[in-house]
Order: sequence, then C-alpha cells, then structure tokens
Amino acid sequence: MSDSLKQEIEKRRTFAIISHPDAGKTTLTEKFLLYGGAINLAGAVKGRKAAKHAVSDWMEIEKERGISVTSSVLQFSYNDFCINILDTPGHQDFSEDTYRTLMAADSAVMVIDGSKGVEAQTIKLFKVCVMRGIPIFTFINKMDREALDPFELIDQIENVLGIRTCPINWPIGSGKNFKGVYDRKTSTISRFIAGDNGHKVETVEGKLSDAGLDDLITKEYHDILTEEIELLDGASDEFDLEKVRAGKLSPVFFGSALTNFGVETFLQHFLDMTTSPLPRKSDGGEVSPFSDDFSAFVFKIQANMNKAHRDRIAFMRICSGRFEAGMEVMHVQGGKKIRLSQPQQMMAQERKHVEEAYAGDIIGVFDPGIFSIGDTLYKGKEPVKFEGIPTFAPEHFARVRQVDTMKRKQFMKGISQIAQEGAIQIFQEYNTGMEEIIVGVVGVLQFEVLQFRLQSEYNVEIRMDQLPYEHVRWIENPEVDVAALSVTSDTKKVKDLHDRPLLLFTHPWSIQTALERNEGLTLSEFGTA
Ligand code: G4P
Repeated sequence: MSDSLKQEIEKRRTFAIISHPDAGKTTLTEKFLLYGGAINLAGAVKGRKAAKHAVSDWMEIEKERGISVTSSVLQFSYNDFCINILDTPGHQDFSEDTYRTLMAADSAVMVIDGSKGVEAQTIKLFKVCVMRGIPIFTFINKMDREALDPFELIDQIENVLGIRTCPINWPIGSGKNFKGVYDRKTSTISRFIAGDNGHKVETVEGKLSDAGLDDLITKEYHDILTEEIELLDGASDEFDLEKVRAGKLSPVFFGSALTNFGVETFLQHFLDMTTSPLPRKSDGGEVSPFSDDFSAFVFKIQANMNKAHRDRIAFMRICSGRFEAGMEVMHVQGGKKIRLSQPQQMMAQERKHVEEAYAGDIIGVFDPGIFSIGDTLYKGKEPVKFEGIPTFAPEHFARVRQVDTMKRKQFMKGISQIAQEGAIQIFQEYNTGMEEIIVGVVGVLQFEVLQFRLQSEYNVEIRMDQLPYEHVRWIENPEVDVAALSVTSDTKKVKDLHDRPLLLFTHPWSIQTALERNEGLTLSEFGTA
C-alpha cells in the first residue's frame, strides 16, 4: 500500500451520533461542521430549523414531527482529520435503522439533554448502541439550562444503559448559575460567561485549592466543586483507553451545543480517543482497512430521497482500500460484477459526485434494485464476504389495503420497495395469495411513515387495521405441512416475501404450545436469508 493511501485512511474518523429527539444532536452536528469550516456562520444562524432540514433530514414527515427518520451522512475536515458523521433517527421506534447505521460506524456520540437525563422513549435506542459494543462518547448538553444533578445523570447512564462512565470534565452549576466546566485531566476551568450579546468562554488554569477561584466561580461553587471532584476521584472509574475502545467505558463531557460551550474541546478529546477505521470481520477472517483491495458493505437503502429523480440509493461503508468512480467490483450476493457509477457523498449540505473515497468513508450509489442490506462488494483476487446485519423481529402488525382497488399495482410496488429498504417487513396470509398484506414493524411510528410515504411517493392511500400479534417465528423445517400444524386459535400462519412460512403469535405461551403440539417443529426468531 502506498504511503499516501495509508495516510488518507489513517486520518479518517467515522462515527454515528445518537440522541433523544430534541436533545441537541442537530445543533451539535452544526457546531462540528462550523469548526470544520464546512458551513459558514451566516448559513447556520439563518433559521436554524431550515438549516436543520437542509443539512440532514430528507423526509417531510421529519419536518412535521420534528424527528429524524432517515439517517444521513456528512463529511468534513477538521485539523488533519477527515470526519464522517452518520446521523441516526432520534426515536426508539427506528432503533433497527440506528443499529444498521452503527454497523457502519467505528464509534458513537450519544447526546443527552442535561435537564431530562436518559428518556424512556430512547432507552431501547441507546441499548442498541451498547449491544453493538462500539465505543460510546457521551455529551451531556444544555448545561446552560437548569440540569439534573450531574451524579444523577451519571447514575442514569450507568444503571439504565448498563455501561460504566468516566467524566472527563465536570460542570460547575447549571442554568442561570452555570459557571463552566472543570477539566479533570488538565485541572483547568473553562468559564462560561453569559452575556446579553452571546456567551463568552474563558479558560483559566488553576488548582482546585487556589483561593482565587472564589472570585471566578464564587465561593459557594468553589466549595461544591472541590467536594464533588473529591467524591468523583474516589468513586468513579479511572480513565482507561482500552476499555473505552472496547465499548465498556463511556467518557462523559458536559457542555452546551447552542452556546458553543465545550464543543471544540469535546471534538478534540473525541478525536484523540477514537481510532482510524477498524478492521471488519468477514467469512475469511478480518479484513484490514489498509488492504490494497477495495471492499465495502451496504448498510442502508433509501428510495425516493429526491422526489424529482425517483432514485434509489444504496449506502455503503468502505471497509478497505480505495474506491474510484466507475470502478468494476464483485457484488457477492448478486454473484456478478457490476460497475459503481454515479457515486455520491454528502459534503456538509450538498450531495456531491465523488471520484474517489477511502476505507472509513460512506458512499451512496444508484441502486437499480439489485442490492440488499448487508451485501458485500469487493475488488481483488481474494473473495470477501462480510458478516450479515441481523434483522430485528417485528413487534407490531397491521393488515394493510389500498383504498382505491385500481391502484393495486402502485400499492404493491411501493410497499415492496419500502420493505426492501428494511423499514418494514411484509407477509401474506398463508393460503390466500397476494390479496391480504400484513405489515410487521419494530416500532409503531414506522406505520405512520409507511402510510405517509405510500401517499406522497406512490400516490396510494391505504387503510390499516392493527392486529394483536406481538411475536413472530419463522418455521425452520422445510418439510413441515404448514396447513396441518396444530396451533392455538389466535396464532396466524403467514409467509414472507421469500415464501418462507412463519407464525404470528399474540402471547409467548402460544409459541410454547405450538412447539409442544407439533413434534419436531423448529422455530426461529430471525428471518435473515
Ligand atoms: P435534535 O436534533 O436532537 O432533535 O435537537 P436540536 O439540535 O434540533 O435541538 C433541539 C432544541 O434544543 C432546539 O431548540 C435547540 O436550539 C435547543 N438546544 C440545542 N442545544 C442547546 C443548548 O446547549 N442549550 C439550550 N438552551 N438549548 C439547546 P428549538 O426551540 O426546538 O429550535 P430553534 O427554535 O432554536 O431552532
């Protein structure tokens, strides 16, 4: 591998950013971009909401509900780093999407609203992050507002999410009394000075024992800080880079994205602690990012991102080597060579045609309907196939029909395409052909997205009747006569897109009954092909 190629890969940092809706993910991302010089101040200040959607949100439903449904990718440079940020949906109903995005990232930044702590509706989302075992960096935001006690916040992260923490800095007050943060490593205080014309930040060096601190942060807060740091030094986990990189210890930072307080120090610490692109597991062992041969996997498919173009884009993470526009690669799952034309990358606000990209980067290529999530692409003599991406078992089901029977074709096209993106799973009644479509989703908000997208992208109005099923199991024995299976009356026999039979259950005990009544029956929770 040439030195220049090695350098390009070494300077890459690819991370996902996750948060509760409204915790400040968009604001933090914008501040990052600002440091990278990717957007100018004027652009960022003019109507934040407008900027928000231009930067990372595509779908109208996101504007309406103020939540981020699709994940997008942004690339920018900061100092000598080339940074790829993967945005994720801020609601746990889309945690499967977040999981897939995390597969493409080497680490994650978790943004928490200091006044709210870990919110119930995102616990699942954050747990997905812990499950994936990648390094998690926590930014506790909005310290310029009244926040929960910092020890309480730390406790919540540790107890609710099950990950140890190590505060890198510590807040001095919050809200009206927010005085700044104390950096535990350098023993310096960054002072937050609120003013009518914005906020000023000042860094002062000084030991906690310096009497002069009384003047800077008041005696009351100096005393509190001394006591809290003592407590923290005695009780909290020591910083351990290895544990951080193994996803076992989360470094915690306090700050305020809106007032741009603590954002740049966070970015600097973060870049120091994270790694360049990591090797990926494949069938034939680990693939090094520094391999001369290109390899990548598809982690997201998104149709109709641009309504005018009706295009479908497959997003892939480059795992090794260098990508060149027009390159011919092997598509493993399709079993043939294809040319990757018109590749795109998101540079700050714009989609841009890319000529070259490197391990760690994310590119989007036009998908004529050949890719599925988890597919591998490679170039080189040695075949490569990356580990698949697991699908989450749907927990909510509904019967879906088009209102206008003349629109059956569009309905089927739309619903199949959305299913191919992995946002929903579709099933049919076992014996009744294509008439009845049952949709399964991980989170109920996905039903809303489905309804909205069928209407706006395919011009099809649908009626949905929620069904009481909560559990799904694929039938693993090919020889089983599904029609003859003895199941409880509230169990439904259906088949998936690949004609594989499965059962939908309302209660976990019905699963047990099915197994007991049908000797030799094997059921599986996952339907990955
Ligand atoms: P999200 O992407 O995680 O959903 O959150 P987003 O950045 O959109 O922020 C949600 C709201 O919180 C925004 O206010 C934003 O200005 C505010 N916010 C973000 N960071 C901070 C912070 O550090 N301190 C304070 N006080 N507020 C913060 P909004 O009223 O919804 O939007 P806008 O009217 O300001 O555009």
